[in-house]
Amino acid sequence: MNINENDVAKLVQQVLQEMTSGAPASAPKAQAAPNGDIPKTAKVAMMTELKHFEIQEYPIPELGDDDILVRVEGCGVCGTDAHEYKNDPFSLIPVVLGHEGTGEIVKMGKNVKKDSAGKPLNIGDKVVTCMIFKDDPDITMFDLNKQNVGGADVYGLLPDDNVHLNGWYSDYILIRGGSTVFNVSDLDLDSRILIEPCAVLVHAVERAKTTNILRFNSRVVVQGCGPIGLICIAVLRTMGIENIVAVDGNEQRLAFAKRMGAGETVNFMNYKGIDNLANAVKDAFGGHLADFAFQCTGSPVAHSNIYKFIRNGGGLCELGFFINGGDATINPHFDLCSKEITLVGSWVYTLRDYATTFDFLKRAIAIGLPIKELITHRFPLEEMNEALETNLAQKGLKIAYVRKDLI
Ligand SMILES: NC(=O)c1ccc[n+]([C@@H]2O[C@H](COP(=O)([O-])OP(=O)(O)OC[C@H]3O[C@@H](n4cnc5c(N)ncnc54)[C@H](O)[C@@H]3O)[C@@H](O)[C@H]2O)c1
Ligand SMILES: [Zn+2]
Repeated sequence: MNINENDVAKLVQQVLQEMTSGAPASAPKAQAAPNGDIPKTAKVAMMTELKHFEIQEYPIPELGDDDILVRVEGCGVCGTDAHEYKNDPFSLIPVVLGHEGTGEIVKMGKNVKKDSAGKPLNIGDKVVTCMIFKDDPDITMFDLNKQNVGGADVYGLLPDDNVHLNGWYSDYILIRGGSTVFNVSDLDLDSRILIEPCAVLVHAVERAKTTNILRFNSRVVVQGCGPIGLICIAVLRTMGIENIVAVDGNEQRLAFAKRMGAGETVNFMNYKGIDNLANAVKDAFGGHLADFAFQCTGSPVAHSNIYKFIRNGGGLCELGFFINGGDATINPHFDLCSKEITLVGSWVYTLRDYATTFDFLKRAIAIGLPIKELITHRFPLEEMNEALETNLAQKGLKIAYVRKDLI
């Protein structure tokens, strides 16, 4: 090959240009002088029709005295987003989705001093949002422990308005005064993206504890090893529960369940009939049925089955039906009454569970659980359609939008 001096100069110039325009350079710059770097406009991935996101650009509005402007770093793709993407069941189109998001504060109104747990907030802090209680500013973390969260809004499931920066599938989000916001600067980006689904399991385990059946030495069966079941196993492990059997039909997920802390696994596809399956679960516990069970699939049949895995006097937490998945058949005499099963349902979480979740994530990582490996796919904002399609195709576990320079 014949390269002359001119070519070399051109090549060097090109390499230098690539290095300086390379994305990572922008991250520290934003941290050093965040205010000075705020652009005039922000990009959002607007869902304009079913199964279609479009990148749109809007002016970043003036901040009110209680508002916070956050530069988004990432946001998990949730099953709810997938439902919205496919069918718009909440009639939100046009909408900026994304509620499992996190990012860095770049600007704050003059009244903003503390987060919802009383922790100081400063420019540069990393935050997550939780619920928005427009009609009841007096709701506190304590009240919320006693009530269901129905009636609250969340960023990422708000209809579009003249601000537009309402969801985390964006490069900036405007957090309006009165919203619940937590300072989570002591967690890394992956952990912050996983907070919302983890809070679901912290809550489910809190619900399970109300039965008084769950103990350190309980035999616990977790049915379903999607992200929800896998995180369930991690929460139990961080509590010191050792004896966990995971049930699923996917060998890869069962292998992950073991790494997350399940002692034994049962592949339901290998057993014909519920009696054989229940015996397999019993064998996995060394000849005993479970003291407690967590139902983490959206399958009505799985709900019917799970009673057979539980001993007389045992407990069940059903959390697999965030949305209506149809009716399930049980035999009230055999499954519930004669066995004296204590059953609790669990749905979403409270603000308190959210705060507990930050510590759970630190503990899970500290004891070596591969919690961050739950995020299997990361997409930049421009590829939200691909991100949602990947979720719908049930590839991987947790899909996330991550800002391009942080992928
Ligand atoms: N309670 C809540 O607030 C809440 C919050 C979020 C999600 N959810 C629900 O939790 C469920 C699980 O969520 P996910 O993200 O892990 O879903 P997922 O679809 O990724 O995982 C479900 C798993 O269950 C397994 N499965 C299906 N049928 C089974 C059976 N008969 N026996 C054993 N395993 C079976 C599948 O192989 C899959 O691995 C969903 O239905 C979701 O709606 C509830
Ligand atoms: Zn979610």
